Amino acid sequence: MPEAFGRLDTDLQLREKILPLCRLKKGEIWEDPLSGHRVGVLDATRRQDVEQIFSKEKTALSVQDPPYNVAVGNENTENLFKMNLSEYMDFSQKWIENNLVVLGKNASLYVWLGADQKEHFQPLPDFMIMMRQFSELVSRSFITMRNQRGYGTQKNWMAVRQECLYYTKGNAYFDVNAEYTDIPKISGGTHFFK
Ligand SMILES: C[S@@+](CC[C@H](N)C(=O)[O-])C[C@H]1O[C@@H](n2cnc3c(N)ncnc32)[C@H](O)[C@@H]1O
Repeated sequence: MPEAFGRLDTDLQLREKILPLCRLKKGEIWEDPLSGHRVGVLDATRRQDVEQIFSKEKTALSVQDPPYNVAVGNENTENLFKMNLSEYMDFSQKWIENNLVVLGKNASLYVWLGADQKEHFQPLPDFMIMMRQFSELVSRSFITMRNQRGYGTQKNWMAVRQECLYYTKGNAYFDVNAEYTDIPKISGGTHFFK
């Protein structure tokens, strides 16, 4: 189905129109006066940005969804970029290091990543191996698997899988009683993995 609006990272005219309506500019942080939640337009690879939004606080839960190093819809933009793998790994290493600065003593880290089936499943295996250097993190689960089509037609089909890695630090709390999916496991003989 076609998108109702163009993509903000590729449709420059739309972007120009929308930017004046955005209350937050690059580098700014808004704090909800009621709850204290903070929203920022920041760079996860810059330690000072991450420290600024956290102040002195630490988190027990970090859920990350970085760019997957694939050209989404055949477009390569500043936001959803495709770079050479070693540059992508430098990028990943930086934001993971910054994440570790703000993870509490006992914490969970979830990372969504892509695996390009046409390029030896990059960057998923490279990312997993890179994560081995962080001895404070323990790998816990490889949660979901699905094919991601992304935008477009058969011409720009994305042969990309989308996966979620789960790591813990210290003695992270995990609610085993929480029901996290009610999708039927078997339907008409087909197994669903979601
Ligand atoms: C896979 S998308 C995440 C989409 C998001 N989970 C959603 O559902 O809308 C990756 C996002 O990372 C953002 N991004 C790219 N480089 C970044 C950086 N250095 N710091 C913070 N965010 C970045 C992109 O703008 C993009 O929105």
